[in-house]
Amino acid sequence: MTQELTTSLPTEPVRPSESPGWWRDAVIYQVYVRSFADSDGDGIGDLRGVRERLPHLAGLGMDAVWLTPFYASPQADGGYDVADYRTVDPLFGTLGDADDLVRTAHELGLRVIVDVVPNHSSDQHPWFREALAEPGGAARTRYHFRRGRGAHGELPPNDWESVFGGPAWTRTTDPDGTLGEWYLHLFAPEQPDLNWDSPEVRAEFDSVLRFWLDLGVDGFRIDVAHGMVKAAGLPDIGRTEQAKLIGSQVLPFFDQDGVHEIHRSWRRLLDSYPGDRIGVAEAWAPTAERLALYVRPDELHQAFNFQFLKCPWDAAAMREVIDESLAATRSVGAPTTWVLSNHDVVRHTTRYADGADGGPGQGLARARAAALLTLALPGSSYLYQGEELGLPEVTDLPDEARQDPAFFRTSPDGEDGQNGQDGFRDGCRVPLPWTRSGESYGFGPGGSWLPQPDAWSGLSVEAQTGDPGSTLELYRGALALRRELPGLGDGPMSWLEAPAGVLALSRPGLVCTLNTLGEEVELPVPGRALLSSAPLSYGAGTVRIPPDSCAWWAI
Ligand code: NOJ
Repeated sequence: MTQELTTSLPTEPVRPSESPGWWRDAVIYQVYVRSFADSDGDGIGDLRGVRERLPHLAGLGMDAVWLTPFYASPQADGGYDVADYRTVDPLFGTLGDADDLVRTAHELGLRVIVDVVPNHSSDQHPWFREALAEPGGAARTRYHFRRGRGAHGELPPNDWESVFGGPAWTRTTDPDGTLGEWYLHLFAPEQPDLNWDSPEVRAEFDSVLRFWLDLGVDGFRIDVAHGMVKAAGLPDIGRTEQAKLIGSQVLPFFDQDGVHEIHRSWRRLLDSYPGDRIGVAEAWAPTAERLALYVRPDELHQAFNFQFLKCPWDAAAMREVIDESLAATRSVGAPTTWVLSNHDVVRHTTRYADGADGGPGQGLARARAAALLTLALPGSSYLYQGEELGLPEVTDLPDEARQDPAFFRTSPDGEDGQNGQDGFRDGCRVPLPWTRSGESYGFGPGGSWLPQPDAWSGLSVEAQTGDPGSTLELYRGALALRRELPGLGDGPMSWLEAPAGVLALSRPGLVCTLNTLGEEVELPVPGRALLSSAPLSYGAGTVRIPPDSCAWWAI
Protein backbone atom coordinates (compact mmCIF):
# COMPACT_ATOMS: atom_id res chain seq x y z
CA MET A 1 0.00 0.00 0.00
CA THR A 2 2.83 2.38 0.71
CA GLN A 3 5.10 3.55 -2.03
CA GLU A 4 8.78 4.37 -2.13
CA LEU A 5 9.19 8.11 -2.44
CA THR A 6 12.25 10.17 -2.96
CA THR A 7 13.27 12.45 -0.13
CA SER A 8 15.66 14.66 -2.04
CA LEU A 9 14.63 18.28 -2.43
CA PRO A 10 14.45 19.56 -5.99
CA THR A 11 15.80 23.07 -6.24
CA GLU A 12 12.72 24.53 -7.96
CA PRO A 13 9.36 24.36 -6.18
CA VAL A 14 6.77 22.33 -8.09
CA ARG A 15 3.38 24.01 -8.43
CA PRO A 16 0.22 22.04 -9.12
CA SER A 17 -1.18 22.46 -12.60
CA GLU A 18 -2.86 25.79 -13.17
CA SER A 19 -6.60 25.47 -12.76
CA PRO A 20 -8.18 28.77 -11.83
CA GLY A 21 -11.00 28.42 -9.33
CA TRP A 22 -9.97 24.82 -8.54
CA TRP A 23 -11.40 25.19 -5.07
CA ARG A 24 -14.96 25.88 -6.28
CA ASP A 25 -15.70 22.18 -6.67
CA ALA A 26 -12.70 20.53 -5.00
CA VAL A 27 -12.99 17.45 -2.81
CA ILE A 28 -10.62 18.06 0.07
CA TYR A 29 -9.56 15.34 2.48
CA GLN A 30 -8.95 16.34 6.08
CA VAL A 31 -5.88 14.64 7.51
CA TYR A 32 -5.84 14.67 11.31
CA VAL A 33 -2.08 14.26 11.31
CA ARG A 34 -1.77 12.68 14.77
CA SER A 35 -4.12 9.84 13.74
CA PHE A 36 -3.45 9.24 10.04
CA ALA A 37 -0.22 7.24 9.73
CA ASP A 38 2.78 6.89 12.03
CA SER A 39 6.16 6.41 10.34
CA ASP A 40 8.47 6.30 13.37
CA GLY A 41 6.66 4.01 15.80
CA ASP A 42 5.96 6.49 18.61
CA GLY A 43 2.23 5.79 18.31
CA ILE A 44 1.51 9.29 16.94
CA GLY A 45 0.90 10.04 13.28
CA ASP A 46 3.47 12.25 11.53
CA LEU A 47 4.25 14.08 8.31
CA ARG A 48 6.33 11.26 6.84
CA GLY A 49 3.42 8.91 7.53
CA VAL A 50 1.11 11.27 5.65
CA ARG A 51 3.53 11.58 2.77
CA GLU A 52 3.85 7.82 2.35
CA ARG A 53 0.06 7.52 2.05
CA LEU A 54 -0.49 10.40 -0.36
CA PRO A 55 -0.59 8.06 -3.39
CA HIS A 56 -3.57 6.32 -1.75
CA LEU A 57 -5.42 9.65 -1.41
CA ALA A 58 -4.57 10.68 -4.95
CA GLY A 59 -5.75 7.26 -6.15
CA LEU A 60 -9.06 7.73 -4.37
CA GLY A 61 -9.63 10.90 -6.37
CA MET A 62 -9.02 13.67 -3.82
CA ASP A 63 -8.13 17.11 -5.12
CA ALA A 64 -6.42 18.38 -1.99
CA VAL A 65 -5.57 17.57 1.59
CA TRP A 66 -5.99 19.75 4.65
CA LEU A 67 -3.47 19.01 7.39
CA THR A 68 -4.38 19.79 11.00
CA PRO A 69 -1.70 21.71 12.99
CA PHE A 70 1.74 20.11 13.09
CA TYR A 71 3.57 23.14 14.52
CA ALA A 72 5.67 23.28 17.70
CA SER A 73 3.20 22.91 20.52
CA PRO A 74 2.84 21.53 24.04
CA GLN A 75 -0.24 19.71 22.64
CA ALA A 76 -2.65 21.00 25.28
CA ASP A 77 -5.34 20.98 22.58
CA GLY A 78 -4.11 18.60 19.90
CA GLY A 79 -1.74 21.21 18.45
CA TYR A 80 -4.28 24.06 18.34
CA ASP A 81 -2.01 25.65 20.96
CA VAL A 82 0.94 26.81 18.90
CA ALA A 83 4.23 27.80 20.55
CA ASP A 84 6.10 28.49 17.30
CA TYR A 85 4.17 29.05 14.08
CA ARG A 86 7.16 28.47 11.82
CA THR A 87 8.49 25.22 13.30
CA VAL A 88 7.32 21.62 12.95
CA ASP A 89 6.86 19.87 16.27
CA PRO A 90 9.37 17.00 16.62
CA LEU A 91 6.36 14.74 17.29
CA PHE A 92 5.35 15.24 13.66
CA GLY A 93 8.74 15.60 11.97
CA THR A 94 10.84 18.44 10.63
CA LEU A 95 10.46 21.40 8.33
CA GLY A 96 12.19 19.28 5.70
CA ASP A 97 9.41 16.68 6.08
CA ALA A 98 6.79 19.40 5.55
CA ASP A 99 8.63 20.57 2.46
CA ASP A 100 8.89 16.99 1.13
CA LEU A 101 5.21 16.44 1.80
CA VAL A 102 4.09 19.53 -0.11
CA ARG A 103 6.37 18.70 -3.01
CA THR A 104 5.21 15.07 -3.22
CA ALA A 105 1.57 16.12 -3.00
CA HIS A 106 2.04 18.50 -5.90
CA GLU A 107 3.77 15.83 -7.96
CA LEU A 108 0.70 13.65 -7.37
CA GLY A 109 -1.64 16.49 -8.37
CA LEU A 110 -2.84 17.10 -4.81
CA ARG A 111 -2.97 20.56 -3.28
CA VAL A 112 -2.10 21.13 0.36
CA ILE A 113 -3.96 23.30 2.83
CA VAL A 114 -2.50 23.85 6.28
CA ASP A 115 -4.13 25.10 9.45
CA VAL A 116 -3.40 28.54 10.84
CA VAL A 117 -4.40 29.28 14.43
CA PRO A 118 -4.64 33.08 14.80
CA ASN A 119 -7.19 33.48 17.62
CA HIS A 120 -4.83 32.26 20.32
CA SER A 121 -1.30 31.06 20.84
CA SER A 122 0.05 28.54 23.32
CA ASP A 123 0.82 29.77 26.82
CA GLN A 124 4.35 28.56 26.00
CA HIS A 125 4.68 30.98 23.06
CA PRO A 126 7.58 33.39 23.74
CA TRP A 127 5.18 36.33 23.53
CA PHE A 128 3.00 35.00 26.32
CA ARG A 129 5.95 34.10 28.51
CA GLU A 130 7.28 37.60 28.01
CA ALA A 131 3.87 39.02 28.89
CA LEU A 132 3.69 37.00 32.13
CA ALA A 133 7.18 38.11 33.10
CA GLU A 134 6.36 41.83 32.81
CA PRO A 135 3.20 42.88 34.66
CA GLY A 136 2.04 46.16 33.13
CA GLY A 137 4.58 45.85 30.31
CA ALA A 138 3.95 46.43 26.60
CA ALA A 139 4.21 42.68 25.89
CA ARG A 140 0.80 42.29 27.52
CA THR A 141 -0.88 44.34 24.78
CA ARG A 142 -0.51 41.37 22.41
CA TYR A 143 -3.04 39.49 24.57
CA HIS A 144 -6.10 40.45 26.61
CA PHE A 145 -4.90 41.13 30.14
CA ARG A 146 -7.29 42.88 32.56
CA ARG A 147 -7.54 43.63 36.26
CA GLY A 148 -10.12 41.49 38.01
CA ARG A 149 -13.39 42.73 39.42
CA GLY A 150 -14.06 42.82 43.17
CA ALA A 151 -12.27 44.68 45.95
CA HIS A 152 -9.07 42.72 45.41
CA GLY A 153 -9.43 41.83 41.75
CA GLU A 154 -10.50 38.37 42.83
CA LEU A 155 -13.30 38.02 40.25
CA PRO A 156 -12.87 37.54 36.48
CA PRO A 157 -13.06 40.77 34.43
CA ASN A 158 -16.33 39.68 32.78
CA ASP A 159 -18.73 36.74 32.66
CA TRP A 160 -17.43 35.06 29.49
CA GLU A 161 -17.13 31.29 29.54
CA SER A 162 -14.57 29.09 27.82
CA VAL A 163 -15.88 26.97 24.94
CA PHE A 164 -14.31 24.04 26.80
CA GLY A 165 -16.17 24.81 30.05
CA GLY A 166 -15.38 27.02 33.06
CA PRO A 167 -14.52 30.74 33.00
CA ALA A 168 -12.75 32.23 29.97
CA TRP A 169 -10.29 34.00 32.29
CA THR A 170 -7.38 32.79 34.38
CA ARG A 171 -5.64 34.89 37.01
CA THR A 172 -1.90 35.26 36.78
CA THR A 173 0.67 35.27 39.53
CA ASP A 174 3.25 38.02 39.20
CA PRO A 175 6.95 37.20 39.30
CA ASP A 176 7.04 38.47 42.93
CA GLY A 177 4.45 35.84 43.92
CA THR A 178 1.45 38.16 44.34
CA LEU A 179 -1.80 37.61 42.46
CA GLY A 180 -1.97 39.77 39.38
CA GLU A 181 -4.12 40.41 36.31
CA TRP A 182 -6.36 37.96 34.48
CA TYR A 183 -5.96 36.88 30.85
CA LEU A 184 -8.63 35.85 28.36
CA HIS A 185 -8.77 32.36 26.83
CA LEU A 186 -11.90 31.41 24.93
CA PHE A 187 -10.59 27.83 24.86
CA ALA A 188 -8.22 26.16 27.36
CA PRO A 189 -6.12 28.26 29.80
CA GLU A 190 -3.10 27.06 27.78
CA GLN A 191 -4.54 28.97 24.77
CA PRO A 192 -4.44 32.71 25.60
CA ASP A 193 -6.38 34.84 23.09
CA LEU A 194 -4.28 37.19 21.00
CA ASN A 195 -5.27 40.83 20.76
CA TRP A 196 -5.93 41.64 17.09
CA ASP A 197 -5.97 45.37 17.84
CA SER A 198 -2.21 45.03 18.18
CA PRO A 199 -0.38 45.92 14.94
CA GLU A 200 2.38 43.53 16.01
CA VAL A 201 -0.07 40.61 16.06
CA ARG A 202 -1.31 41.49 12.59
CA ALA A 203 2.19 41.86 11.17
CA GLU A 204 3.31 38.60 12.74
CA PHE A 205 0.50 36.59 11.12
CA ASP A 206 1.12 38.19 7.73
CA SER A 207 4.66 36.96 8.07
CA VAL A 208 3.55 33.47 9.21
CA LEU A 209 1.23 33.16 6.20
CA ARG A 210 4.04 34.22 3.88
CA PHE A 211 6.37 31.68 5.47
CA TRP A 212 4.08 28.77 4.56
CA LEU A 213 3.05 30.21 1.20
CA ASP A 214 6.74 30.52 0.32
CA LEU A 215 7.13 26.85 1.24
CA GLY A 216 4.44 26.14 -1.36
CA VAL A 217 1.19 25.47 0.49
CA ASP A 218 -2.01 26.10 -1.47
CA GLY A 219 -3.97 27.70 1.32
CA PHE A 220 -5.04 27.89 4.93
CA ARG A 221 -7.83 26.54 7.02
CA ILE A 222 -8.36 29.40 9.44
CA ASP A 223 -9.09 28.25 12.97
CA VAL A 224 -11.76 30.22 14.84
CA ALA A 225 -11.98 32.64 11.91
CA HIS A 226 -15.01 34.21 13.61
CA GLY A 227 -13.25 34.92 16.90
CA MET A 228 -10.26 37.18 16.47
CA VAL A 229 -12.12 40.43 17.13
CA LYS A 230 -13.85 41.03 20.48
CA ALA A 231 -16.56 43.64 21.13
CA ALA A 232 -15.14 46.90 22.46
CA GLY A 233 -15.10 47.00 26.25
CA LEU A 234 -15.49 43.19 26.49
CA PRO A 235 -19.13 43.48 27.68
CA ASP A 236 -20.83 40.85 29.86
CA ILE A 237 -23.21 38.41 28.19
CA GLY A 238 -25.49 38.13 31.19
CA ARG A 239 -26.15 34.40 31.12
CA THR A 240 -24.41 31.10 31.61
CA GLU A 241 -24.08 28.09 29.26
CA GLN A 242 -22.75 30.43 26.59
CA ALA A 243 -21.36 27.53 24.53
CA LYS A 244 -24.96 26.68 23.65
CA LEU A 245 -25.28 30.07 21.93
CA ILE A 246 -22.34 29.53 19.59
CA GLY A 247 -23.56 29.39 16.02
CA SER A 248 -27.03 30.64 16.91
CA GLN A 249 -26.28 34.29 17.70
CA VAL A 250 -23.59 36.93 17.42
CA LEU A 251 -21.64 37.02 20.68
CA PRO A 252 -19.26 39.72 21.94
CA PHE A 253 -16.44 37.28 21.19
CA PHE A 254 -17.75 35.47 18.10
CA ASP A 255 -18.80 36.66 14.65
CA GLN A 256 -18.05 40.33 15.32
CA ASP A 257 -18.12 42.40 12.13
CA GLY A 258 -14.52 43.48 12.67
CA VAL A 259 -13.15 40.05 11.69
CA HIS A 260 -13.99 40.69 8.05
CA GLU A 261 -11.38 43.39 7.67
CA ILE A 262 -8.72 40.86 8.74
CA HIS A 263 -9.96 38.34 6.19
CA ARG A 264 -9.95 40.99 3.49
CA SER A 265 -6.33 41.79 4.20
CA TRP A 266 -5.45 38.08 4.14
CA ARG A 267 -7.21 37.74 0.79
CA ARG A 268 -4.99 40.46 -0.63
CA LEU A 269 -1.97 38.60 0.69
CA LEU A 270 -3.16 35.27 -0.81
CA ASP A 271 -3.85 36.96 -4.14
CA SER A 272 -0.34 38.35 -4.23
CA TYR A 273 0.94 34.77 -4.68
CA PRO A 274 0.66 32.84 -7.96
CA GLY A 275 -1.55 29.77 -8.27
CA ASP A 276 -4.93 30.42 -6.65
CA ARG A 277 -4.03 30.04 -2.97
CA ILE A 278 -7.10 29.88 -0.76
CA GLY A 279 -8.45 30.59 2.69
CA VAL A 280 -11.20 28.48 4.26
CA ALA A 281 -12.96 29.77 7.33
CA GLU A 282 -13.81 27.70 10.35
CA ALA A 283 -16.52 30.15 11.29
CA TRP A 284 -19.58 29.57 13.43
CA ALA A 285 -22.18 32.10 12.31
CA PRO A 286 -25.84 32.18 13.31
CA THR A 287 -27.28 32.19 9.79
CA ALA A 288 -26.33 31.16 6.27
CA GLU A 289 -26.39 34.87 5.35
CA ARG A 290 -23.87 35.81 8.04
CA LEU A 291 -21.68 32.87 7.07
CA ALA A 292 -21.75 34.05 3.46
CA LEU A 293 -20.14 37.33 4.56
CA TYR A 294 -16.90 35.38 5.08
CA VAL A 295 -16.84 34.37 1.40
CA ARG A 296 -17.61 37.70 -0.25
CA PRO A 297 -15.47 38.22 -3.37
CA ASP A 298 -12.77 40.13 -1.48
CA GLU A 299 -12.68 37.82 1.54
CA LEU A 300 -12.05 34.10 1.95
CA HIS A 301 -12.75 31.45 -0.66
CA GLN A 302 -14.65 28.93 1.41
CA ALA A 303 -16.39 28.59 4.79
CA PHE A 304 -17.43 25.25 6.25
CA ASN A 305 -21.19 24.80 6.17
CA PHE A 306 -21.83 23.68 9.74
CA GLN A 307 -25.61 24.16 9.42
CA PHE A 308 -25.58 21.20 7.02
CA LEU A 309 -23.37 19.18 9.38
CA LYS A 310 -25.78 19.84 12.25
CA CYS A 311 -28.90 19.01 10.22
CA PRO A 312 -30.77 15.90 11.43
CA TRP A 313 -31.59 12.94 9.16
CA ASP A 314 -34.79 14.46 7.85
CA ALA A 315 -35.52 15.11 4.18
CA ALA A 316 -37.45 18.36 4.68
CA ALA A 317 -34.84 19.78 7.06
CA MET A 318 -32.00 18.80 4.73
CA ARG A 319 -33.69 20.38 1.75
CA GLU A 320 -34.23 23.60 3.67
CA VAL A 321 -30.59 23.80 4.77
CA ILE A 322 -29.36 23.03 1.25
CA ASP A 323 -31.61 25.73 -0.24
CA GLU A 324 -30.65 28.34 2.34
CA SER A 325 -26.96 27.57 2.00
CA LEU A 326 -26.96 27.70 -1.79
CA ALA A 327 -28.98 30.92 -1.85
CA ALA A 328 -26.71 32.61 0.68
CA THR A 329 -23.42 31.67 -0.97
CA ARG A 330 -24.74 32.37 -4.48
CA SER A 331 -25.75 35.85 -3.35
CA VAL A 332 -22.04 36.61 -2.96
CA GLY A 333 -20.87 34.51 -5.91
CA ALA A 334 -19.19 31.81 -3.80
CA PRO A 335 -19.64 28.05 -3.85
CA THR A 336 -21.02 26.22 -0.83
CA THR A 337 -18.56 24.10 1.14
CA TRP A 338 -20.18 20.91 2.42
CA VAL A 339 -18.91 18.95 5.37
CA LEU A 340 -20.38 16.06 7.34
CA SER A 341 -17.66 15.36 9.91
CA ASN A 342 -14.41 16.70 11.28
CA HIS A 343 -12.12 16.20 14.27
CA ASP A 344 -14.42 18.17 16.58
CA VAL A 345 -17.75 16.40 16.14
CA VAL A 346 -19.21 12.93 16.60
CA ARG A 347 -18.64 10.97 13.38
CA HIS A 348 -21.75 11.05 11.20
CA THR A 349 -21.99 7.25 11.04
CA THR A 350 -22.79 7.42 14.76
CA ARG A 351 -24.64 10.77 14.68
CA TYR A 352 -27.18 9.58 12.15
CA ALA A 353 -28.05 6.36 14.04
CA ASP A 354 -31.35 6.46 15.91
CA GLY A 355 -29.98 4.45 18.85
CA ALA A 356 -31.43 0.99 19.44
CA ASP A 357 -34.55 1.85 17.38
CA GLY A 358 -32.62 2.11 14.16
CA GLY A 359 -31.14 -1.37 14.29
CA PRO A 360 -27.52 -2.25 13.57
CA GLY A 361 -26.14 -0.75 10.44
CA GLN A 362 -28.58 2.14 10.25
CA GLY A 363 -25.95 4.79 10.98
CA LEU A 364 -23.61 3.40 8.33
CA ALA A 365 -26.42 3.11 5.77
CA ARG A 366 -27.30 6.76 6.34
CA ALA A 367 -23.67 7.86 6.32
CA ARG A 368 -23.10 6.17 2.96
CA ALA A 369 -26.25 7.79 1.59
CA ALA A 370 -25.27 11.19 2.99
CA ALA A 371 -21.88 10.93 1.27
CA LEU A 372 -23.54 10.41 -2.13
CA LEU A 373 -25.97 13.27 -1.50
CA THR A 374 -23.16 15.61 -0.46
CA LEU A 375 -20.94 14.74 -3.40
CA ALA A 376 -23.86 15.42 -5.77
CA LEU A 377 -24.44 18.94 -4.44
CA PRO A 378 -22.97 21.99 -6.17
CA GLY A 379 -19.77 23.22 -4.59
CA SER A 380 -16.81 21.83 -2.73
CA SER A 381 -16.73 19.00 -0.16
CA TYR A 382 -14.47 18.33 2.79
CA LEU A 383 -14.17 14.66 3.80
CA TYR A 384 -12.85 13.76 7.24
CA GLN A 385 -10.32 10.95 7.35
CA GLY A 386 -11.99 7.62 8.07
CA GLU A 387 -15.43 8.57 6.80
CA GLU A 388 -14.48 6.85 3.53
CA LEU A 389 -14.10 3.69 5.66
CA GLY A 390 -17.44 4.23 7.40
CA LEU A 391 -15.70 4.48 10.77
CA PRO A 392 -18.04 5.04 13.71
CA GLU A 393 -17.33 7.21 16.73
CA VAL A 394 -15.49 5.25 19.43
CA THR A 395 -17.67 5.72 22.50
CA ASP A 396 -15.99 3.45 25.03
CA LEU A 397 -12.52 4.97 25.32
CA PRO A 398 -11.09 4.55 28.81
CA ASP A 399 -10.85 7.85 30.67
CA GLU A 400 -7.10 7.46 31.14
CA ALA A 401 -6.59 7.39 27.34
CA ARG A 402 -8.42 10.64 26.71
CA GLN A 403 -6.64 13.85 25.75
CA ASP A 404 -9.41 16.27 24.76
CA PRO A 405 -9.16 19.27 27.13
CA ALA A 406 -12.95 19.60 26.95
CA PHE A 407 -13.20 16.21 28.67
CA PHE A 408 -11.27 17.47 31.65
CA ARG A 409 -13.03 20.83 31.90
CA THR A 410 -16.63 19.58 31.66
CA SER A 411 -18.03 17.47 34.46
CA PRO A 412 -19.12 13.96 33.51
CA ASP A 413 -22.90 13.62 33.41
CA GLY A 414 -23.09 17.40 33.37
CA GLU A 415 -26.16 19.35 32.33
CA ASP A 416 -25.01 19.30 28.74
CA GLY A 417 -26.01 15.65 28.65
CA GLN A 418 -22.50 14.49 27.87
CA ASN A 419 -21.74 11.43 29.93
CA GLY A 420 -17.99 11.24 29.85
CA GLN A 421 -17.97 8.52 27.18
CA ASP A 422 -19.26 10.23 24.10
CA GLY A 423 -19.77 13.80 22.98
CA PHE A 424 -16.09 14.62 23.50
CA ARG A 425 -13.63 14.71 20.71
CA ASP A 426 -11.25 11.80 21.24
CA GLY A 427 -13.84 9.34 19.92
CA CYS A 428 -13.57 10.73 16.38
CA ARG A 429 -9.75 10.95 16.52
CA VAL A 430 -8.87 7.27 16.91
CA PRO A 431 -6.03 6.34 14.49
CA LEU A 432 -7.01 4.89 11.12
CA PRO A 433 -6.88 1.14 10.42
CA TRP A 434 -4.89 0.48 7.24
CA THR A 435 -4.42 -3.29 7.40
CA ARG A 436 -6.55 -6.23 8.58
CA SER A 437 -4.03 -7.26 11.19
CA GLY A 438 -0.68 -6.33 12.64
CA GLU A 439 0.41 -3.61 15.02
CA SER A 440 -2.29 -0.93 15.27
CA TYR A 441 -3.84 -2.23 12.03
CA GLY A 442 -1.05 -0.72 10.00
CA PHE A 443 -1.29 2.75 11.53
CA GLY A 444 2.32 2.42 12.63
CA PRO A 445 4.92 0.05 14.03
CA GLY A 446 4.57 1.24 17.64
CA GLY A 447 0.92 1.06 18.66
CA SER A 448 -1.54 3.92 18.57
CA TRP A 449 -2.08 6.84 20.95
CA LEU A 450 -5.77 5.93 21.34
CA PRO A 451 -6.91 2.29 21.37
CA GLN A 452 -8.60 1.06 18.17
CA PRO A 453 -11.65 -1.21 18.44
CA ASP A 454 -11.12 -4.86 17.34
CA ALA A 455 -13.89 -4.50 14.76
CA TRP A 456 -11.71 -2.02 12.85
CA SER A 457 -9.81 -4.92 11.29
CA GLY A 458 -12.80 -5.41 8.96
CA LEU A 459 -13.04 -1.66 8.31
CA SER A 460 -9.40 -1.31 7.34
CA VAL A 461 -8.31 0.04 3.97
CA GLU A 462 -6.93 -3.41 3.15
CA ALA A 463 -10.18 -5.20 4.02
CA GLN A 464 -12.30 -2.78 1.97
CA THR A 465 -10.10 -2.36 -1.08
CA GLY A 466 -11.59 -4.21 -4.06
CA ASP A 467 -14.80 -5.14 -2.23
CA PRO A 468 -17.53 -3.62 -4.41
CA GLY A 469 -19.92 -3.40 -1.45
CA SER A 470 -17.46 -1.53 0.78
CA THR A 471 -17.74 2.09 1.81
CA LEU A 472 -14.23 2.75 0.52
CA GLU A 473 -15.18 1.56 -2.97
CA LEU A 474 -18.41 3.59 -2.80
CA TYR A 475 -16.36 6.74 -2.20
CA ARG A 476 -13.87 5.78 -4.89
CA GLY A 477 -16.72 5.27 -7.37
CA ALA A 478 -18.41 8.55 -6.46
CA LEU A 479 -15.17 10.52 -6.72
CA ALA A 480 -14.39 8.96 -10.10
CA LEU A 481 -17.84 9.85 -11.43
CA ARG A 482 -17.51 13.35 -10.05
CA ARG A 483 -14.45 13.80 -12.22
CA GLU A 484 -16.03 12.19 -15.27
CA LEU A 485 -19.36 14.03 -15.22
CA PRO A 486 -18.76 17.63 -16.20
CA GLY A 487 -22.07 18.71 -14.64
CA LEU A 488 -21.08 17.73 -11.13
CA GLY A 489 -19.17 20.07 -8.87
CA ASP A 490 -19.99 23.77 -9.09
CA GLY A 491 -23.04 24.64 -11.21
CA PRO A 492 -26.83 24.54 -11.37
CA MET A 493 -29.10 22.26 -9.37
CA SER A 494 -32.86 21.86 -9.20
CA TRP A 495 -35.29 19.79 -7.16
CA LEU A 496 -37.51 17.18 -8.77
CA GLU A 497 -40.86 16.08 -7.44
CA ALA A 498 -40.56 13.30 -4.90
CA PRO A 499 -42.67 11.69 -2.18
CA ALA A 500 -42.35 12.95 1.42
CA GLY A 501 -39.14 11.68 2.98
CA VAL A 502 -37.41 11.46 -0.40
CA LEU A 503 -35.16 14.06 -2.03
CA ALA A 504 -34.60 14.02 -5.77
CA LEU A 505 -32.26 16.57 -7.27
CA SER A 506 -31.14 17.17 -10.78
CA ARG A 507 -27.68 18.25 -11.94
CA PRO A 508 -26.55 18.50 -15.56
CA GLY A 509 -26.43 14.85 -16.68
CA LEU A 510 -27.31 13.43 -13.28
CA VAL A 511 -30.24 12.77 -10.96
CA CYS A 512 -29.63 11.95 -7.31
CA THR A 513 -32.34 10.26 -5.24
CA LEU A 514 -32.17 10.05 -1.43
CA ASN A 515 -34.59 7.99 0.63
CA THR A 516 -34.44 9.08 4.28
CA LEU A 517 -37.30 6.80 5.33
CA GLY A 518 -37.02 3.54 7.24
CA GLU A 519 -38.85 1.76 4.43
CA GLU A 520 -38.37 1.08 0.74
CA VAL A 521 -39.82 3.63 -1.72
CA GLU A 522 -40.88 2.81 -5.28
CA LEU A 523 -40.22 5.46 -7.93
CA PRO A 524 -40.31 5.60 -11.72
CA VAL A 525 -36.79 4.76 -12.94
CA PRO A 526 -35.08 8.18 -13.16
CA GLY A 527 -32.33 7.16 -15.61
CA ARG A 528 -29.42 4.77 -15.96
CA ALA A 529 -28.20 3.65 -12.54
CA LEU A 530 -24.62 4.80 -11.94
CA LEU A 531 -24.01 4.21 -8.28
CA SER A 532 -26.05 3.36 -5.25
CA SER A 533 -25.32 3.20 -1.52
CA ALA A 534 -27.52 0.06 -1.20
CA PRO A 535 -28.62 -2.55 -3.76
CA LEU A 536 -31.55 -1.45 -5.93
CA SER A 537 -34.33 -3.71 -7.21
CA TYR A 538 -36.68 -3.06 -10.09
CA GLY A 539 -40.37 -3.47 -10.99
CA ALA A 540 -42.01 -2.68 -14.34
CA GLY A 541 -40.60 0.76 -15.12
CA THR A 542 -40.01 1.38 -11.43
CA VAL A 543 -37.11 1.12 -9.01
CA ARG A 544 -37.35 0.25 -5.34
CA ILE A 545 -35.04 2.53 -3.40
CA PRO A 546 -34.01 0.82 -0.13
CA PRO A 547 -34.46 2.55 3.24
CA ASP A 548 -31.79 5.13 4.18
CA SER A 549 -30.08 5.01 0.81
CA CYS A 550 -29.04 7.23 -2.07
CA ALA A 551 -28.53 6.56 -5.77
CA TRP A 552 -27.04 8.44 -8.72
CA TRP A 553 -28.63 8.17 -12.18
CA ALA A 554 -27.30 9.25 -15.57
CA ILE A 555 -29.89 11.18 -17.56
C1 NOJ B 1 -11.37 24.61 16.34
C2 NOJ B 1 -10.53 23.38 16.17
O1 NOJ B 1 -11.06 22.61 15.12
C3 NOJ B 1 -10.57 22.66 17.49
O2 NOJ B 1 -10.03 21.37 17.42
C4 NOJ B 1 -9.85 23.52 18.51
O3 NOJ B 1 -9.98 22.91 19.79
C5 NOJ B 1 -10.46 24.92 18.58
N1 NOJ B 1 -10.72 25.48 17.30
C6 NOJ B 1 -9.53 25.85 19.31
O4 NOJ B 1 -8.40 26.09 18.54
